[in-house]
Amino acid sequence: MTASMRQQPAAAPTRQEFAERLLKGSVKKSYAPVVDIDWDAPLEPDKFFLPPRCVSLYDTPMWDEMTREQQIELSRQELVNTLSAGIWFENILNQALLRKIMHQDPTARSVHYELTELGDETRHMVMFGKAIELVGAKPVRPRWWHRVVINALPLGFKGSVLWVAALIGEEIFDSLQRQMMDDDDLQPMVQRLMRIHVTEEARHIQFARDGLRKRAPALGPITRLWVSSINGLGGYFFRYLFTNRIPYLRVGLDADRARRLARTSPHRRQVQISGFAPLAAFLEEVGLMGRVSRRMWRRTGFLPQ
Ligand SMILES: [Fe+2]
Ligand SMILES: [Fe+2]
Repeated sequence: MTASMRQQPAAAPTRQEFAERLLKGSVKKSYAPVVDIDWDAPLEPDKFFLPPRCVSLYDTPMWDEMTREQQIELSRQELVNTLSAGIWFENILNQALLRKIMHQDPTARSVHYELTELGDETRHMVMFGKAIELVGAKPVRPRWWHRVVINALPLGFKGSVLWVAALIGEEIFDSLQRQMMDDDDLQPMVQRLMRIHVTEEARHIQFARDGLRKRAPALGPITRLWVSSINGLGGYFFRYLFTNRIPYLRVGLDADRARRLARTSPHRRQVQISGFAPLAAFLEEVGLMGRVSRRMWRRTGFLPQ
């Protein structure tokens, strides 16, 4: 091989080569949270469950009116709220992956990776369930008709919509967890849980991004318009989740005032913008951040005004 040939950039890996690489990574670094977290270690009495600056009311008048115990309790209830949503999100992602696999070649590396990802998510669901139990709060469960709607979503998660939905569910939490996990104010169990989750989710995000990079250029104009317009609904979902009334009520706060303050807080907006930034940049890169979506993400506080 001549020097000039060696200098040529390598061709982008195919979907199967990409999946093979992620499979090798999964063999090297995967966790079994049942044994990789010390579930018997007692909680630390004066530590937060989310870093204070990542609690929805931080830097609002209501936060300053609260005692430190109330602030810690709100961080506990907001962690449980997020873990609860994480469980049902991973549930519907797994449902969508299984339905997709039914139509695929079982010898394909991409199918093997999808099954590996599915296994990661089932362990995450156990980890989140055990974490909720350990912190001693009740999970936040969607109402019956919400559960019916949520359970129907995987039927629509196909093709590029599946990968956009996966990224919306994974990337925002991922970038927030990366900001949170090194905070010394945090309970050690929560730190460990976030580190495990971030490590395994990094592969899921790469796989979903690769799927979109390969599919986006070939999308027809109507599908492209649909996918690039619909993803902004994610902003409404996250605004609803992050200002759910249940954690406020459990701490004994005026839930309407708390929600209003959280939704108009400039600090909170900055946290949300930083959490969404990597995904926003990626959606722009692949041409799937449409005008309608951009407006929805901005209105719900995930893009600068
Ligand atoms: Fe996960
Ligand atoms: Fe994931």
